[in-house]
Amino acid sequence: MNITEEQMKKLFEAAVGASGKSYSPYSHFPVGAALLMTDGTIVTGANIENRSFGLTNCAERSAVFTAVSAGWRTFSALAIATPESDYPVGPCGACRQVLTEFACAETPVIFGPKYENIVSTTLGALYPYDSLHELAGK
Ligand code: THU
Repeated sequence: MNITEEQMKKLFEAAVGASGKSYSPYSHFPVGAALLMTDGTIVTGANIENRSFGLTNCAERSAVFTAVSAGWRTFSALAIATPESDYPVGPCGACRQVLTEFACAETPVIFGPKYENIVSTTLGALYPYDSLHELAGK
């Protein structure tokens, strides 16, 4: 699937919008994620913290769990917005593992506080040598 610059920009804007739904009273660090599903639908998620901090759900996993719960399985691009950081923040290790369950290594991933100086990479670059990928359920 070929994704245009315009689609990526729109996806990032959706991630910024999702960050507005963040529940982050402990870190005060809102994060929004937006997945472009293979049928063109955008599914978003925000980070949801808990006073027992280990139970926090990152924006990326919120988006994946929302998408899969609603019936989507595969996404073709991901945007992550951290509007209040002064530098780009990539997905944590747990999210990288979960994300690879539902997309291929070539999937474009962008992240940053603003679209103007976004980091543009792929899922495979963020999670290389994923020897178990072929075990992912279809
Ligand atoms: N967080 C995310 O939601 N995604 C990331 O990619 C990095 C970190 C959240 C977890 C926590 O709520 C806050 O950001 C600070 O770590």
